Amino acid sequence: MAKTKTAYFCQSCGYESAKWLGKCPSCNQWNTFVEEIVEKNPTTVPTWKNDAAPARKLSKPSKVNEIERSPERRMLTGDKELDRVLGGGLVEGSLILIGGEPGIGKSTLMLQLALNLKGKKLLYVSGEESEQQIKMRAERITESPSADCYILTETSTQNIFKQIEILEPEIVVIDSIQTLHSAHIESTPGSVSQVRECTAELLRFAKETGTPVFLIGHITKDGAIAGPKILEHMVDTVLQFEGDRHHVYRILRSIKNRFGAAAELGIYEMQGSGLREVSNPSEILLTQRDEELSGIAIAAMLEGARPMLIETQALVSAAAYGTPQRSATGFDTKRMNMLLAVLEKRCGFRLSTQDVFLNIAGGIRVEDPAIDLAVLIAVISSHQDIPVSSKNCFAAEVGLSGEIRAVNRIEQRIAEADKLGFEVIYISKYNMKGINIEKYNLEIKAVSKIEEVFSLIFG
Ligand code: TYD
Ligand code: MG
Repeated sequence: MAKTKTAYFCQSCGYESAKWLGKCPSCNQWNTFVEEIVEKNPTTVPTWKNDAAPARKLSKPSKVNEIERSPERRMLTGDKELDRVLGGGLVEGSLILIGGEPGIGKSTLMLQLALNLKGKKLLYVSGEESEQQIKMRAERITESPSADCYILTETSTQNIFKQIEILEPEIVVIDSIQTLHSAHIESTPGSVSQVRECTAELLRFAKETGTPVFLIGHITKDGAIAGPKILEHMVDTVLQFEGDRHHVYRILRSIKNRFGAAAELGIYEMQGSGLREVSNPSEILLTQRDEELSGIAIAAMLEGARPMLIETQALVSAAAYGTPQRSATGFDTKRMNMLLAVLEKRCGFRLSTQDVFLNIAGGIRVEDPAIDLAVLIAVISSHQDIPVSSKNCFAAEVGLSGEIRAVNRIEQRIAEADKLGFEVIYISKYNMKGINIEKYNLEIKAVSKIEEVFSLIFG
C-alpha cells in the first residue's frame, strides 16, 4: 500500500508547509494549520476531461504590437447590475468567484440569473440544496423560468464534468466551491487543497472550452473568502455580495476584474420574490423627510464609475462616562477620528468630551474621500443642533490642515446632484477649473477652507 502523503495548510491563506506550525509565516495568523491528505492517485492525470493532458506547446516571445487582438466576446446576462459589475457582460471562458456571507443571497442571485437567461443553455450545479429546495426557490423567483436551465445536485467534480460533456452548457454555475470534491485529492470538501484542486479543474475547463463559470464561495467570519486566498489569484473576477442581513439592500462589488474596472458596484433590493435591480441608488440612500433635522448632510460620492448621493448621519452628545465613545458604521473610524481632530484644531469645537456616532445610510461602506466634507458638516450640525438644508450637498476631501481638497470626476457628481434637484453643491476651489457653471441649474459654491464652509452654512 502506498504511503499517504500529507501536508499542513494554513486555512486562512493557503500556505503549505511540511510541518505543523503555530503561526503562519505568510499571513501571521495563529493556529490555522490543519493536516490534509495530498496524495494524488498516480494513474489519473488531473485534467478536467480525465484523458491525458495535451502536450505543452512551446511558447515563444512575440512583439506586443504584432499580437493580434481578437475582440473578447461578451455575453449579456440580462441582469443590468451584474453586467455592469462584470465590466459590460460576461466574458467567454472567464472564471468568476462570487463571495458573501451565508444567507446574503448568493444562491438567489445566481438562480435568478439562471432562470431569466433565456436561449442559453445553463447548468446550475448545487452541492448544498436538493432539487426540491431549488424548485421551491425558483417558484418564488419567477413564474416562467427559462427552458434551458438545468439543475444538477452533485458534489464530485468528475461526475459534474461527465454531465457537462453530455449536456454541453454555455454557462456553468457552481454552488458552492466549498462543497465540491475531486477524486484526485483525498482531503475533505472545503479544505484548502480540495478547494484549490476543484478550482484548478474548473479553471482548465473554462479556458479550454470558453465556457464562463460562476463559483459561489462562502466567506468566513472575518470577511475572507473561506479556504485559500489563492482562490482569488486563480479566478479572473472576484465579486463580493454584501449588505446587512437585516437591511433589504445588497451590494455586488467587484474586487478584482481582469476584464473591466474594479470597484464597480451593483445594487439590489431583496424582495419576497427574489432580487430587484436598483437602477437609481440615490433614491434609496436619501431618506424622505418632511422637516429638516440636525445631524444630516448629503454627500455626492462616486462608487466605481457610478455617482450617487448618500446621507451621512451624525450624533454628537455629551459623554456620560470618562472616555468619549467614537463609533462609525460604513465609514473608517480612524478617518473619522482624524476629521474630528481637524475640527478641534481648526475650528475650535470642543469634541473631546463628546460621544460621536456616525452612520452612512443604507448599510453601505464608503471609501470615497469625497464624503469627508459631508461627515464634518453632519457632525457640526448635530453638535450645534442646527439642521442643514436638504437641498445642499457636498463633495470634497478635507486635509489635515482643514483645507478643502479637490476630488476626481467632479462634473459627474455635480451632474447627478443637479439631476436629483439639489440647489447647492459645495466643492473645492481647486475643482473649479474647466467646469461649465452655466450647464447646471444648481449653484456651485467653491470653498478652500473648512472655516469658510462653516461660516457659509452655520453663519
Ligand atoms: P440565499 O440565496 O440562500 O443565500 P446564500 O446562498 O448567500 O447563503 O438567500 C437566502 C435569504 O434570502 C433567505 O434568508 C431568504 C431570502 N430570500 C428572500 O427574501 N426572497 C426570495 O425570493 C428568496 C429566494 C430568498
Ligand atoms: Mg446558498
